[in-house]
Amino acid sequence: MNITGKTLLVGIFGHPIEHTFSPAMHNAAFDWLGLDWCYLPFHVLPERLGGAVEAVRALGLRGVNVTVPHKEAVIRYLDRVDEEAARIGAVNTVVNEDGVLTGYNTDGKGFVMSLKEAGMAVCKKKVIVLGAGGAARAVCFSLLSAGVSDILVVNRTVERAGQLAGDINSVRKAASAAGSISSTAGYDMLVNTTSLGLHDEDPMPVEESLLISELFVCDLIYNPARTRLMAVAEKRGCNTINGLGMLLWQGVLAFELWTGMMPPVSVMRDVLGT
Ligand code: ATR
Repeated sequence: MNITGKTLLVGIFGHPIEHTFSPAMHNAAFDWLGLDWCYLPFHVLPERLGGAVEAVRALGLRGVNVTVPHKEAVIRYLDRVDEEAARIGAVNTVVNEDGVLTGYNTDGKGFVMSLKEAGMAVCKKKVIVLGAGGAARAVCFSLLSAGVSDILVVNRTVERAGQLAGDINSVRKAASAAGSISSTAGYDMLVNTTSLGLHDEDPMPVEESLLISELFVCDLIYNPARTRLMAVAEKRGCNTINGLGMLLWQGVLAFELWTGMMPPVSVMRDVLGT
């Protein structure tokens, strides 16, 4: 990469940020296309988020990705938020057009694209979503747009599951909520959006006996690339995917929003090693 006076800058705000794959993924795509663009990681503390967003305007960055823990907090500093991101209540991509900052959420759409790529047609499917945080909201609203028939939101804090189910139902009556489940019969898909599985010692996000072979099991976690949930589900005959496809496709969509160009998906995929 050759930085010049004309190089256009994008980047990512997160805390922590050391483990992000996004700079490598986007810079490989810029290189391949011969674009004079550069993607940088920024370690932004929560109390500095407002200043960091103002710096996007002041320094003329073309945009940024926003990751944990800033996806919800960033909204108040933006000029506009697109409809889907507003419904989700979280932004992962900001586009800067002459100082006007617009927030988008490409996570959920990226998830649905990763399902499509894995051969999973979601239309009319019945889905269990574990968790009710920002990731769950992105996944649920995109699944809803993609035409699923039922979404059961299951969350440790059942009030939060109820809130999300209510928000979904205000768009289309498709959701219900629970604090736990005792059966998965009749469902086609199970999505883990909780952080359970990031660490070896974590308990399973769902009881093993509920992993019936008819379920397509998705874990949004990508590091480790094969979580215990996935390993157990596979042993019990389920097809599974991890979160690398979602990471890839949310990046593809962000790249398109910033540059107006379709990135070389296979180059980005190679960086992720999927
Ligand atoms: P994200 O933006 O990644 O979704 P989040 O908004 O903090 O992050 O949400 C984390 C989700 O993981 C929540 O659904 C959380 O459940 P609570 O709403 O009850 O907090 C879930 N989660 C995190 N740790 C968990 C644990 N040890 N057991 C069960 N659920 C857990």
